[in-house]
Amino acid sequence: LDVVLQPAPALTWRTIGGILDFYVFLGPDPGSVIEQYVEVVGYPAMPIYWALGYHLCRWGYNTSDSAWEVVKNMRNYGIPQDVQWNDIDYMDQFMDFTYDSSKFATLPDMVKDLHAHDQRYVMILDPGISSTQPEGTYWPFDEGLRRQVFIKDAEGRTLIGKVWPGLTAYPDFSDAVTHEWWYDNLKRFHEKVPFDGLWIDMNEPSNFLDGSTNGCPSDSLENPPYTPGVLGGLLRAKTLCATAQQKQSIHYNMHSLYGLMEAKASASALKRIVAKRPFVISRSTFPSQGMYSGHWLGDNRSQWKDLYTSIAGMLTFNLLGIPLVGADICGFSEEPEEELCVRWTQLGAFYPFTRNHNAIDMKPQDPTAFSPLARTAMKQALLLRYSLFPVLYTLFHHAHVHGHTVARPLMFEFPKDVKTYGIDKQFLWGKSLLVTPVLDPGVDYVDGYFPEGLCIQSSGEELPLQAPLDKINLHLREGSVIPTQTPNLTLWVSSGQPLHLISALSDDGSATGDLFWDDGESIDTYETNQYTYIIFSVAQNVMTSQVLHNNVEATYITVELASFYGVKEKPSRVLVNSQDASFTYRENQVLTVADLGLNLSQNFTISWM
Ligand code: NOJ
Repeated sequence: LDVVLQPAPALTWRTIGGILDFYVFLGPDPGSVIEQYVEVVGYPAMPIYWALGYHLCRWGYNTSDSAWEVVKNMRNYGIPQDVQWNDIDYMDQFMDFTYDSSKFATLPDMVKDLHAHDQRYVMILDPGISSTQPEGTYWPFDEGLRRQVFIKDAEGRTLIGKVWPGLTAYPDFSDAVTHEWWYDNLKRFHEKVPFDGLWIDMNEPSNFLDGSTNGCPSDSLENPPYTPGVLGGLLRAKTLCATAQQKQSIHYNMHSLYGLMEAKASASALKRIVAKRPFVISRSTFPSQGMYSGHWLGDNRSQWKDLYTSIAGMLTFNLLGIPLVGADICGFSEEPEEELCVRWTQLGAFYPFTRNHNAIDMKPQDPTAFSPLARTAMKQALLLRYSLFPVLYTLFHHAHVHGHTVARPLMFEFPKDVKTYGIDKQFLWGKSLLVTPVLDPGVDYVDGYFPEGLCIQSSGEELPLQAPLDKINLHLREGSVIPTQTPNLTLWVSSGQPLHLISALSDDGSATGDLFWDDGESIDTYETNQYTYIIFSVAQNVMTSQVLHNNVEATYITVELASFYGVKEKPSRVLVNSQDASFTYRENQVLTVADLGLNLSQNFTISWM
């Protein structure tokens, strides 16, 4: 179908068939519209903790040793990295569930080394299964044929298309039998290469041919009276025939569900294999996708305009209940200048899903490939992200339980301020962190809009902010408390560090915030009560930590440090749980209380007078 946005304003749906169900989500505010929508399509899964770390990928490492080399260099430079990925070049002739035993001979060793450093490994899988290997040499195809998992053409023969490995058959993920076959393939491969997550690409499904090796029949399904504005002007263009047969229906009816169903099969297989929260990132998506996978925004370019439009892409998928989203940092095709890659890493540090990915034959663009100055700037941005892990993790909890957005347009928090409506160069994490990235070359400042009451004394105005190459502007909204941690090279290490609570008091001296905490990887911790949830509030010179839900095992960390911004007068005494405590006070109205050693699982108070 075509959906056309009219200036009226109005939307026109022009569809060539099907049943239209209309839901009207009344809000009344933008955030509740999204909550209502997500309640219908399904809440996004709670990600495994390391999904929120830094991911490095490229197409064309060419050997496992050269991928491994980058991982080692990242460690040597002290740059955070949680996950190393591989693109199709790890495979033997681009065939799923194989690896190149000469160029990627050390792949299992690299994965072992990643695990020994509390890092994780993710590799790509495409749906197309090579159909031209000698019988008995390629189990995925032989077994797939035996179990009849492949999509058939209109005449009932296995439909053959073409992707990276040459001629391929396409698994029919609308069939439970295919899910079992997919699981068996993954399990067999996992015994050789113990991967931790999956990257599912080309699942529109993509085909280098139009329809199949035999074309498609000529009928009204393939050539409807009106063809919507699709690529190539044909329903079959670069995909399968509309008349192809799947278990649940003809491909005409199933086409847009392919990525969703593949994600569902992949997530449930991973759950069985690793017995942890599954990590899946998909290119094709459909409503409900957030229940099974995250998403990257596809093949962008190393250009400033793509840096800018990635913000709208990220925000859109947050509206769609797929909050685990990000663009290829530093751009996929083309080669970024150093400055662009630095600015992109700074913005990318605030994508909910943060991955640097690069196309084949492009020069390296991981942080270690740049000058010490650029490298350090990238490292700082990533350390900043890692220090905010408790905030990000708690936001994902609210996405999972309430359908909240993680990365959020300003208008969601300031729906009465019309000046926020068109803002697509800034965004928020949750309600309280404002990100104002640099999106232009050659500048050391950036203009940012500050709605009323966002930390800087503002009545709703645009302000110029300093933004040297090694800085990204991040502002904490008045009235909020955020939990942070000393960052480290992996989230495994940094998420075990004590908490530092930062409070930005509003004019009347109040602030609130919260923390969701669990073991980071077990399935359904919220649903099975294996978590801790804490509310922090400050009012009338007293901070209270209230443990609303407590699972002792989850709270092995302590609160070490509390800083309060906006304490107008120097206190004479500070009490922690009614005991005198030492403190520092700075002229810029910051009160800091250190060495707290407070148990997170018990209520506490910090007060001053
Ligand atoms: C297309 C994907 O969008 C891209 O990210 C990937 O590198 C290539 N396929 C090769 O697998």
